[in-house]
Amino acid sequence: MYKQEDKKELERKNAASEAVKHINNNDVVGLGTGSTAVYAIQLIAELVKQGLTIKGVPTSEKSALLATQLGLELIDINDISSIDVTIDGADEFDSARQLIKGGGGALFREKIVASLSKKEIIIADSGKFVERLGKFKVPIEVVPIAVNYVQQQILRIEGKGTLRETEHVPFITDNGNYIIDADFGLISDPASLAQTLNQIDGILAHGLFINLATIVIMGQGTEVRLY
Ligand code: 5RP
Repeated sequence: MYKQEDKKELERKNAASEAVKHINNNDVVGLGTGSTAVYAIQLIAELVKQGLTIKGVPTSEKSALLATQLGLELIDINDISSIDVTIDGADEFDSARQLIKGGGGALFREKIVASLSKKEIIIADSGKFVERLGKFKVPIEVVPIAVNYVQQQILRIEGKGTLRETEHVPFITDNGNYIIDADFGLISDPASLAQTLNQIDGILAHGLFINLATIVIMGQGTEVRLY
């Protein structure tokens, strides 16, 4: 028997292996962020070593650095009109492929990349599946001067927003902004909450990804399951 941690890693690796089968020669590929996405980036670099031509669009500085270290060619997001396939992780997903993302703070770039992608493939271990989104707090990227205002607006819609900090210092995103992690309890209507958050000034992006994922590939034990 394997330990819980080994099981999780195996599920992540298997999901990544399944996902890279969707990549074709000459594809522009979105590179996700987070520990699950790392497996996909490593496998994409292997495909390039085997002779495929792939251009990567990173969703974070961290993923850009890893991709470059592994010898992947990157392309500027403003030099393309679409992305063939993106492989990214998630913090939670449900059976309707609605997601919470942004645990790693990369939600804004992840959302832009997902929106430009013909195929957005989410890879996850089985611990990420939920009946209803909301146990994981919704990350919200906020322009620094609007933090107080946005927290008040979140209170008005019966949520509670906490500024993300590392060692008492605000976490800064790749775009120079802050993250508020918002607790709305279990979310009965994620699409409606997403719309409400879209209306609040000062919010650059929130971690509710609605109708963006084409497939979720979840590792389950030694198998993979598709949603
Ligand atoms: C980063 C993300 C990640 O995809 C999400 O946090 C999952 O990360 P991990 O694979 O490490 O659990 O949205 O902003």
